[in-house]
Amino acid sequence: MKFIPAIQNIVPYVPGAPIETVMARYGLERVVKLASNEFPLPPFLEVKEAIVAALDGLNRYPDGDALDLRGALAEHYGRPLEEIAIGNGSCELLMLIGDTLLESGDEVVYADPSFTVYADICMRHGAKAVAVPLLPDFGHDLEAMAAAIGPRTKMVILCNPNNPTGNYLPAAEIAAFIDRVPKDVLVVLDEAYNEFVTAADWQGTLPLQAERANVCVLRTFSKIYGLAGLRVGYGLCPAPLKSALDKVRQPFNVNRLAQVAAIEALKHQDRVLERRRQNAEVREYLRDTLAAMGRATVPTEANFMLVDITDLCDPQERACTSLMALGAIVRDGNALGCPGWARVTVGAPDEIDFFVERLRSLVRPASP
Ligand SMILES: Cc1ncc(COP(=O)(O)O)c(C=O)c1O
Repeated sequence: MKFIPAIQNIVPYVPGAPIETVMARYGLERVVKLASNEFPLPPFLEVKEAIVAALDGLNRYPDGDALDLRGALAEHYGRPLEEIAIGNGSCELLMLIGDTLLESGDEVVYADPSFTVYADICMRHGAKAVAVPLLPDFGHDLEAMAAAIGPRTKMVILCNPNNPTGNYLPAAEIAAFIDRVPKDVLVVLDEAYNEFVTAADWQGTLPLQAERANVCVLRTFSKIYGLAGLRVGYGLCPAPLKSALDKVRQPFNVNRLAQVAAIEALKHQDRVLERRRQNAEVREYLRDTLAAMGRATVPTEANFMLVDITDLCDPQERACTSLMALGAIVRDGNALGCPGWARVTVGAPDEIDFFVERLRSLVRPASP
């Protein structure tokens, strides 16, 4: 077998270790997973009921056009149906966008560090990843990103809030940036964590998408809606992009249960607001607790937080592996382009206490 050269350097995505695996490996009774930015609560009750009610229909293929879900999103956002694309997670949409736009030698501009999948999408097509370092305060260097756009640039991706740092760009700054991007370059606003933002100057970017023919906003049901296990994400995008995505996606890319669940979940915006409030409260608790321990964190608007663990980063024994052996799974910043940091998901309060307690136990007492 001779595989295409483009995939040679792609390292398969390594997700946070599953709870059951860690329990078995270390013989633990309790393991808390704060590694994949999932929501700590199950889907809404009505969503579970809708899933159960749909089970008998599983002998049939799902609606390949996801018309009902696209209709619900179109109504929810006041956007035309032909501008709504559905994916098997927003990750699939990112990959499909790459399939429709990228050829060998093309360029994609995005920040570094940011969501690791962007680099893989470039590699898959032999495109060049133009990764622009974040500023020292972890903000996007929009000036440098604009300057990095060249004649081969096909796409610019802004992850907002950014994963793994958690900080955000206000819509006004994004608007000014997009005005500097050539009209034939697609700007993808990856907003997987949009619903968690509580900053006062967060106006949202949907008007930017509505007003421009080169902007695509990606969102997901994986995070605040608690549906990561079903895989459903969506894009609000120019109609020609939606048509192009239809050409490259598999015929039934989003399963029947995912479609039903997402339609139901969308109806409960009061619950989404409650979850946002809850996340913000625990986020603040986590930040304050870590600050009281003398640990730096990066200001975040998402449901995760970078925590400084430089003092624990003995190369012989990575701190995150030690934490895992104690039952707290967090994401090692080394794997995310943030050496010296761990990315911790804002879980339930008792999960945060569990993590903090184990982190505390790793700190060596100062020598006398
Ligand atoms: C920035 C970002 N975008 C997209 C995704 C993918 O989300 P999903 O494919 O579950 O919709 C993630 C998942 O963690 C993410 O962090």
